[in-house]
Amino acid sequence: MVQHILTASQFKDRELLGEIFSRANYFQEIHLLPKNDQVRKDARKKIRETLDDQSVGIFFYEPSTRTGSSFQRAVHNLGGEVIKSENAGQFSSAIKGESIEDSIKTMEKYAEIIILRHPEIGSASRAAAVSQVPIINAGDGAGEHPTQALLDLYTIQREIGTFDNLKIALVGDLLNGRTIHSLTQLLEVAQNTELFLVAPDPLQLPEKYRKMLQAKNIKFRETDSLAEVLPHADVVYMTRIQKERFGTDTALYEQVKNSFILGPEEVNKMQKDAILMHPLPRVNEISPEVDKLPQARYFDQVENGVYIRMSLLEHLAQAATT
Ligand code: CP
Repeated sequence: MVQHILTASQFKDRELLGEIFSRANYFQEIHLLPKNDQVRKDARKKIRETLDDQSVGIFFYEPSTRTGSSFQRAVHNLGGEVIKSENAGQFSSAIKGESIEDSIKTMEKYAEIIILRHPEIGSASRAAAVSQVPIINAGDGAGEHPTQALLDLYTIQREIGTFDNLKIALVGDLLNGRTIHSLTQLLEVAQNTELFLVAPDPLQLPEKYRKMLQAKNIKFRETDSLAEVLPHADVVYMTRIQKERFGTDTALYEQVKNSFILGPEEVNKMQKDAILMHPLPRVNEISPEVDKLPQARYFDQVENGVYIRMSLLEHLAQAATT
């Protein structure tokens, strides 16, 4: 059976997650060695055999700065070749009315793995239903973004040393935030988590995910006050209020768009060893002056994305040969 990466809930097994993180950590350690180090050179040569003679299709119907580029870098590091269709909604045959199913059945003739970003919830599952090659969900509208959740949890583990016994504030557009939906599910793997769900009422976490948290006995509290939770959280995970998800409801967007803005004054209310994360892009919810504060880790997340995606691609390539 072809293995796909469609939802973060696929990675709730601690052993599997440990393997993915361990390989990502290895790739990162190798990368950090001095460029002329022979160990680095030998290791990189071996790593480049992973996708030798293989192509990976990056098929994005929605814009991206990080996910597309970090996957591209990951494929390159693993010795593969990228076939890229950015802005596929405009520049692929989708504009002529081609279905996502037909596009996938075409791409699979050129690529051994397909990475898909699409504005519709469930689009990655639709693609997987017809695909003979692995599909990686790189964001399906307001659905999920599993590879982001994996790099988020990897970052938490690297920066704090564990992902257990943490108080985590999820802040912003919890209703439409696909990174939030994936991270919430992935956090089932952690022990003794306490969540603060910080959002304006209309943007609170969907019932489906709240029920899941209740079923797994994960403690959570809903609030619209970030100030109230800042001093208590080990991790503050900010997200953007996503204008593109509001459709014609511009009045609601205008009402909620400035709900949370973190500047240095607010960040100083966090614990000194707490970390501030964001999947990016940001608009105004974290001011640029915060970037130099010790709590800021969002550009570490960006970097960690390459190693996690290398690890995931390696995992799929190995699964395809067994
Ligand atoms: N975090 C994330 O998915 O960023 P991009 O939209 O830039 O890929």
